[in-house]
Amino acid sequence: MAIKHFLQFNDLNRAELEYVFERARIIKRQFKAYQQYWPLQDRTLVMIFEKASTRTRLSFEAGMQQLGGSAIYLNTRDSQLGRGEPVEDAAQVISRMSDIVMIRTFEQEIIERFAANSRVPVVNGLTNEYHPCQILADIFTYIEHRGAIQGKTVAWIGDSNNVCNTWLQAAEVLDFNVHVSTPPGYEVEPERANLYGNNHFEVFADPMHAARGAHLVTTDVWTSMGFEAENDERLRDFADWQVDAEMMQVASNDALFMHCLPAHRGEEVSAEVIDGRQSVVWDEAENRLHVQKALMEYLLLGKV
Ligand code: CP
Ligand code: NVA
Repeated sequence: MAIKHFLQFNDLNRAELEYVFERARIIKRQFKAYQQYWPLQDRTLVMIFEKASTRTRLSFEAGMQQLGGSAIYLNTRDSQLGRGEPVEDAAQVISRMSDIVMIRTFEQEIIERFAANSRVPVVNGLTNEYHPCQILADIFTYIEHRGAIQGKTVAWIGDSNNVCNTWLQAAEVLDFNVHVSTPPGYEVEPERANLYGNNHFEVFADPMHAARGAHLVTTDVWTSMGFEAENDERLRDFADWQVDAEMMQVASNDALFMHCLPAHRGEEVSAEVIDGRQSVVWDEAENRLHVQKALMEYLLLGKV
């Protein structure tokens, strides 16, 4: 059987995603009921981090343990990865000693080269281009709160970053729409987002127009990891792209607010919104755990 990787959102088709969401629902319910479920006993996850993380590390490590397996954390600083060992060689070695690998790194090309030389499934834990596990959790959270996302409108306000690109891909696979508003100079690059091009997103110069009628309003930091040198410039350029109460007011009455976290209150989102009644950011963060358990189960065992 060919190895299945999750390097970008559209690596899974709609039927597979629906299966993973259903498994996540069941795995979450069992976990809440303190039922032991160890399908990955004796399996080992290796997690490679070239950037900082709280949620991704915690959810993968705890998730693997809860499924009966174990997780090993490697980072660039204290492994040979930071000393120039070719990624292809690292992939050969790491994948002979483990059953599944999660990587958080810079260019998407790095994770693709790793996967091409890996004997085991590779999962993208965030690259400069994509953050597929995040959107898996976000859509699962939407479904939990509001039901199917098909045909709904998601407003993306802010930077056209890895999280934005992944929303755009997800819209194509799951047939919903994204209304995007970025400051000039930070526009979506469809090629970088690797879209099929079947028109599931619309661009708005004015963020208020993008938010109008949306079922979900979402944003992310103005400066992503790796872009810190641009921080001052970005603070100026993004000043009008804050999700605030006025913006939530023009969205649909029952609109949800999401943010992958970590957040900067007073920059991309006001405290009133992220801490307000429409915000589901804590469910969203928790659901990383449940969807990634379902994902690892699917990549390692197929349908159970
Ligand atoms: N949302 C997310 O991926 O958070 P971390 O950077 O803490 O992993
Ligand atoms: N866009 C952010 C997401 C962090 C989880 C970054 O890449 O830093």
